[in-house]
Amino acid sequence: MENAEGYTAAGINYVSYEIIGGKPGIEGLPASFGDASEVSTLVLHCADKPNKLKIDLYYSVFEDVDVITRFVTVTNEGSDFIFLKKLYSACLDMENKDFETITLHGSWARERHIENARVGHMKYTVESTRGESSHQDHPFLGVKSHGTTDDFGEVYAMNFVYSGNFKATVQEDQFDNVRMTMGINPDNFKWCLKPGEKFNAPEVVMVYSASGLGNMSRTFHDFYRKHLIRSPYLHKKRPILINNWEATYFDFNSEKLVSIARQAHELGIEMLVMDDGWFSNRFDDNRSLGDWWVNEDKLPGGLKPLVDKVNEIGMKFGIWFEPEMISPESELYKKHPDWAIAVLGREPAKSRNQFVLDLSRPEVVDYMYEQVAKILRSANIEYVKWDMNRQLTDLGSAYLPPERMGELSHRYVLGLYSMQERLLKEFPNLLLENCSGGGARFDAGELYYSPQIWCSDDTDAIERLSIQEGTSLVYPLSTMGAHVSDVPNHTVGRVTPFETRGHVALFGTFGYELDVTKISQEDRDMIRTQTEMYHRYNDLVREGDYYRIASYRQNGSFDMCGVVSKDKKEAVFVYVQVLAEANMHARRIRLKGLKEDLKYRVSNINESAGKAEVSDGASDAYAGGPGMLIGGDVLMNFGILLSRRMGDFKSSLIHITSAE
Ligand code: DGJ
Repeated sequence: MENAEGYTAAGINYVSYEIIGGKPGIEGLPASFGDASEVSTLVLHCADKPNKLKIDLYYSVFEDVDVITRFVTVTNEGSDFIFLKKLYSACLDMENKDFETITLHGSWARERHIENARVGHMKYTVESTRGESSHQDHPFLGVKSHGTTDDFGEVYAMNFVYSGNFKATVQEDQFDNVRMTMGINPDNFKWCLKPGEKFNAPEVVMVYSASGLGNMSRTFHDFYRKHLIRSPYLHKKRPILINNWEATYFDFNSEKLVSIARQAHELGIEMLVMDDGWFSNRFDDNRSLGDWWVNEDKLPGGLKPLVDKVNEIGMKFGIWFEPEMISPESELYKKHPDWAIAVLGREPAKSRNQFVLDLSRPEVVDYMYEQVAKILRSANIEYVKWDMNRQLTDLGSAYLPPERMGELSHRYVLGLYSMQERLLKEFPNLLLENCSGGGARFDAGELYYSPQIWCSDDTDAIERLSIQEGTSLVYPLSTMGAHVSDVPNHTVGRVTPFETRGHVALFGTFGYELDVTKISQEDRDMIRTQTEMYHRYNDLVREGDYYRIASYRQNGSFDMCGVVSKDKKEAVFVYVQVLAEANMHARRIRLKGLKEDLKYRVSNINESAGKAEVSDGASDAYAGGPGMLIGGDVLMNFGILLSRRMGDFKSSLIHITSAE
């Protein structure tokens, strides 16, 4: 902090404590919740007396799911302003147990790949200064003792309930202790706290597991499903959607969309999502962001006739927006050039040909909210994909006074949250899916507003193995937007079987992103099978416990994960033979998460013929007829044998049901 005299000293001392039942919310920010039977909160009241600051540390202990969260508030009780320049939300000091980090990194189309590094005396940092949680780094940091696997060993992890600039660090000190921190990134952050004002630092979720990374993931999943995601869709099957982005890009009209809807409906798809390109002069990505009126050349008569037609066919309707952006070539920019984030006197950098709107400015937030709401009020729209396709640069606001300029990035995030909060208040039944050029804002902050987030623009089933593995390290499968798309894949050019694309997408929210009017009869038959498959397994995938069995990222050859129901009576696993190996008869796989003393039936399901072919998976492994019952102890300790299939990228589902 820096006080009015320019001093930067801080001395924060304990004053008193209280313990309150339940979990308080955090004004303006996403926050976990729970009642007094699930969570209690310790508040440490502290003070920096010379600066007349009251600092409260909130520790909430969620005994039901074994999680502790922390956030911090700072109140200026003096009569002069003070600048906050660095305020982390959590800090852990521990003895070093030969720790290695576990973090998530990537780029556009390659989000959240898992990485490890040794913890030593050099400071290890993961951070974003891009105005959002970002494709590149992720607001998650774990440290695990050397040798920790999915099933054994210790791990301490932090995850940030925030969607903007963050910084997480870990470092060993001179006495071999380890300090781990997480909070808003101090780079470009300077908050002017006037007398009587309070600043809330966002919440950090902390998990400890003594039984490996798998238990850590399941703890995060349970916590987010129970104590963070508010959507009425959380425990419901989401409608199977078809999005027209990869089918048409900007080149579509009502007639085309209706023909997609008609054919999709016949195959069991339930909602049409109209993506980018429906408004103003948006024929490409060079223009029109901010001009949110319907292009009637593309959609004659406007939106309502189209939505009504799609509803008549028996499909729901969803729409795409990018409310935080402004194109230099737009009516809005002509009227309000000062609404874009820019440094006075300097031309801001364009990215995807667009600028970012200054959401620190209340009139911009109000105006953009109204643009979105007006469209939603005009027809029966049941889903919104909220996109954000560039990161923040040229940090300057024509609205903020000089002493508040360092508040822009955080105020931007607060503006975003307030828009989404308003949206959910006015449209409580709206299914909101967040998105940011794929998965650049897949974070716990956004999960407070939307039960699902688009994971990545990369829909290739093989790249998705790594993206979904990294994402599911922290977030439940029910939150991961995943679609079956066409081949050759538009991002990597790879050709994978339709069956494999379906199996991989099944372990997310499930949907389609291709032109159903142009695909073969065989693929159409496969969609019919897959939509049935979704209805059969989605309750399990959405609500069950996640287990990782094998990682293609680690072994370079095959991948397997699965979900076991909470009562352990049913499980479904997806196995992907990424690369075929010569002279390999069968692969032995030990399953996880089952109950040792229950007897199970194992089915190995392949859908390559366009209809499900169920074979007895156990007969691969044992002499014994179909329908044979196998103990959970055998399945987990000896395992099952999966026969080799000819060719790369082959997959199967292993469905396990208890006989009792
Ligand atoms: C990025 C998203 O991730 C895509 O799915 C698509 O909506 C495009 N933006 C549209 O511009």
